Amino acid sequence: MCGIVGYAGARPALDIVVDGLRRLEYRGYDSAGVAIVCDDELLTEKKAGKLANLEKTLAERAGGGTADPGAGPLGIAAGSTGIGHTRWATHGGPTDRNAHPHRSVDGRVAVIHNGIIENFAKLRAELEDGGIEFGSDTDTECVAHLLAAELDRMRADGQPAGPPLLAAAMRAVCRRLEGAFTLLAVDAALPGVVVGARRNSPLVVGRGTGENFLASDVSAFIEHTREAVELGQDQVVLITADEVSITDFDGAPAAGKDFHIDWDASAAEKGGYDWFMLKEIAEQPQAIADTLLGRLTDSGEIMLDEVRLTDQDLRDVDKVFIVACGTAYHSGLVAKYAIEHWTRIPCEVELASEFRYRDPVLDRSTLIVVISQSGETMDTLMALRHAKEQKARVLAICNTNGSTIPRESDAVLYTHGGPEVAVASTKAFLTQLVACYLIGLHLAQVRGIKYADEVAAVVAQLQEMPDKLRTLLTAMEPVRQLAQDLRSAPTVLFIGRHVGYPVALEGALKLKELAYMHAEGFAAGELKHGPIALIEQGTPVVCVVPSPAGRGMLHDKIVSNIQEVRARGARTIVIAEEGDRAVLPYADHLIAVPRTPTLLAPLVTTIPLQVLAAEISAARGYDVDQPRNLAKSVTVE
Ligand code: G6P
Repeated sequence: MCGIVGYAGARPALDIVVDGLRRLEYRGYDSAGVAIVCDDELLTEKKAGKLANLEKTLAERAGGGTADPGAGPLGIAAGSTGIGHTRWATHGGPTDRNAHPHRSVDGRVAVIHNGIIENFAKLRAELEDGGIEFGSDTDTECVAHLLAAELDRMRADGQPAGPPLLAAAMRAVCRRLEGAFTLLAVDAALPGVVVGARRNSPLVVGRGTGENFLASDVSAFIEHTREAVELGQDQVVLITADEVSITDFDGAPAAGKDFHIDWDASAAEKGGYDWFMLKEIAEQPQAIADTLLGRLTDSGEIMLDEVRLTDQDLRDVDKVFIVACGTAYHSGLVAKYAIEHWTRIPCEVELASEFRYRDPVLDRSTLIVVISQSGETMDTLMALRHAKEQKARVLAICNTNGSTIPRESDAVLYTHGGPEVAVASTKAFLTQLVACYLIGLHLAQVRGIKYADEVAAVVAQLQEMPDKLRTLLTAMEPVRQLAQDLRSAPTVLFIGRHVGYPVALEGALKLKELAYMHAEGFAAGELKHGPIALIEQGTPVVCVVPSPAGRGMLHDKIVSNIQEVRARGARTIVIAEEGDRAVLPYADHLIAVPRTPTLLAPLVTTIPLQVLAAEISAARGYDVDQPRNLAKSVTVE
């Protein structure tokens, strides 16, 4: 949702904080703001809209373009302690006044926040009763006022001035807050200190030399340090140039989890592509290869990353639920076919936002597979917690090391896709598919349904995929041309059968999110029961065709479906295996993909649909990486 950066060191904080925000803008871009402590003064700037608006204002400020009485003797660019925020609005519209940081009435304390403070109405009423006038509609502003009041109280009580005071005040405030939050705060009276806190929302520390960082994720400081500490739940952290100290909300010393970041710094940049999304599409072969790396032990068993489950627990499983949101949900829909086919365990796929509210029947022998790129999606996290309360076992598929969802799960398989910056998920989806296949194989093996050599044979097929994808990615020019043709289509329909059905759903979702076009995905066999009425002369219908080498019946059935839509005037865009001659007479446009085993086909058939959506979006003049109204990581329900 929101992106957060903090810096304490010797260098000018403003540049470091703004650079960090640029890396985090995928988390939200309704507004951006910074607070810098310089010479005992707290200087802030904030602006609605994308980070570029804030940067423009800061540049004007530096050039003397705007007279700013609060600019301080050295100016905002000189301070070496600071915090910054990029927002995805929850409480209060995306305006300048609602942009973070929020300051206390005396202007001495500034706070930024990611999450939702659920008891904010009560806190606000209490503060207003005490005479405080609010300058914004946000829940966050309460924290600034509470923190300032707490600091005043502690100082009046004679508590020694110094960095620990801000941490103590933050702890006292956090104990009063309900909901989800990452908070960072600075105090003009304590230059050189940034304090952070987290509950149900992400916060990591970057340990530098003579400088330290705080951020929502490591991409914000990856160019400065590779050594990071992941904060635990309900912890407060204090950083100065030379110190990182962590406590729980009651002040007891606590430890975070140290880790080394091995992502390539260039992975967090566009690398010559116009859009991160195109770069991330191109990275998919490598992302799949990395996700497969080291998965097969010498004895032929699949290796997960963190396992707090016994093989017996997995043998006892009598039902699998896959729970996820958005694109991750579509990977779950594919997984159902593989898991049921390989393990013969019934498998249901559920939208996380619906799951717990329908009170599903769960017990110790239910396995919940939660899939989340970010590991922070609140809908998925709440479904996970509900499942755990019912004693179900939870296995997470996640791309973000140490995030909340894997931490709270019984077992984890990390997709090693590297940072995904574009809001629309691409490489995360493909690596989630790979992870799902591995989990299906692992379950089958543990339960004695598949032998090690059978598992190894499927893993070998998966290992061939990166090369197939590389070949396919070099043949995307016709898709780009097609995007130009389709840019003004009023509606685009997608159809598929078996694992091609979730691919059709994903193709339609991509087009909706990126090109703001009406798009729907259907099970091809279901068309005749209603949606076929949508087809008019020239309606584009993208048809995802399974391999003719697979179950012949499946292939023949979809060829019939293509004929049905074509007979009603549809313009057919057929995605089929190279050499599939049966579709040729009915394809207005043919996109050939490499030959692939039926269950693994989504790894190839999805790619042209990702490219199509990105190119149509660009052709329509939209921001491919940051589509309107969306955020990459949605940490509210
Ligand atoms: C948001 C994003 C989607 C993503 C979904 C789930 O809605 O815009 O692209 O698929 O969240 O995110 P997760 O991080 O849990 O995979």
